[in-house]
Amino acid sequence: MDYLQIQGGKKLHGSITISGAKNSALPIIAATILSDKPVKLTNLPDVVDIRTLLKLLVMLGGEVEHNGTVALINNKNINSTKAVYEIVSQMRASILVLGPLLARFGECEVSLPGGCAIGQRPIDLHLRALEAMGANIEIKGGYVRAEAPNGLKGAKIVFDKITVGGTENIVMAATLAHGTTTIINSAKEPEIVQLCEMIRDAGVEIDGIGTSTITIKGTAQKPLKFQDTEIIPDRIEAGTYLCAGAITNSSITIKKVNAVHIQSSLDKLESMGCSFDIKGDEITIYPTNRLRPINIVTTEYPGFPTDMQAQFMAVATMAIGDSLIEERLFENRFMHVSELNRLGSDIWLKGNVAAVRPVAQLYGADVMATDLRASSALVLAGLVANGVTNIHRIYHLDRGYDNLEGKLLALGADIKRLSH
Ligand code: UD1
Repeated sequence: MDYLQIQGGKKLHGSITISGAKNSALPIIAATILSDKPVKLTNLPDVVDIRTLLKLLVMLGGEVEHNGTVALINNKNINSTKAVYEIVSQMRASILVLGPLLARFGECEVSLPGGCAIGQRPIDLHLRALEAMGANIEIKGGYVRAEAPNGLKGAKIVFDKITVGGTENIVMAATLAHGTTTIINSAKEPEIVQLCEMIRDAGVEIDGIGTSTITIKGTAQKPLKFQDTEIIPDRIEAGTYLCAGAITNSSITIKKVNAVHIQSSLDKLESMGCSFDIKGDEITIYPTNRLRPINIVTTEYPGFPTDMQAQFMAVATMAIGDSLIEERLFENRFMHVSELNRLGSDIWLKGNVAAVRPVAQLYGADVMATDLRASSALVLAGLVANGVTNIHRIYHLDRGYDNLEGKLLALGADIKRLSH
């Protein structure tokens, strides 16, 4: 199995280019099911999750030509509507095919994704909303079986909780429904905005993009014709590299990034003492060797993202005072704490709050990646730890970070991928 070996203590320098956003590419790939015409997607990140979802499309009968950052997809001949356990268990986001399959074909079977390392992650809100749109839903043998033989009907959906995947599934389902759907308390993440814009550019009437109320006039099961779409930059990858600059006290430049999408991370780094030069789609970070402590509460966009919580915790280990980090979205998203403590940090957990106390130095050790973003926190800590850090189970990182070690090498880090 592969692992990453980092010799800590190197200063970083230079620039790297941010890849396309995995979390935007996934719903957009799922949305291609709403069409029976070819569509070209560009700026896809070259990561395992994208390959997994494209493989699912092929299993359903779609045609896919995929080459690194570009995919040509044609879902004209889909002949199966069953998303099997083998794929969904590899990647929870495969649940995003539920809405589009049901809307286009009037039936589908999708394996229940189950829990994952960061928490239970139920899909009850997705299912309740589809029922409100007229679907009959049954859970049997580990599969969600959904039927709407005469198509879905537009409905008023009020989400009890803001859900990114739930909003995406219902936006896609509503697009081919009969009548108008209004989603109240929808998520507002940039990834949802891109999905809605792609659907709008296919000629669908959709209002309230980027707000908490989205209204969609369905096409009554008429498949769409999408424009070619370039995936937006990955705001979490961008934030992770800025954290790499901050933790190693290095000035680096990240290119092809949307500063608006990472405003909350920029604000937190600024309050820790870092400063920035933002020119068009490039950001240069000017770090500080006296990082101030921070308080963070994770919340929905445009608030501070849960997907950046672990990376900021790594940076906070190097601050000159106590930081407090509260995780409000996922109940078990602190598994990096014990691994960071193996590297010498002093982090205390009580419920969903972590207190990060200052330490003079981190020391290299063997640590284990537990989920995607937790893994990148261990990489960040390894960059500044004294000695060698080996990070095991990096298949988590490969799911979501395009060429992580290549990009860090380009910035001057001493990092290697090894096998044992
Ligand atoms: C997406 C992101 C993930 C990010 C998360 C929150 C993708 C592929 N993944 O995940 O990286 O961390 O948003 O920003 O885009 N919930 C329910 N019932 C539901 C659905 C959700 O209770 O039916 C709860 C979840 O358990 C969680 C909260 O709602 O506590 C938010 O989850 P959600 O926004 O749905 O996250 P995902 O779409 O799974």
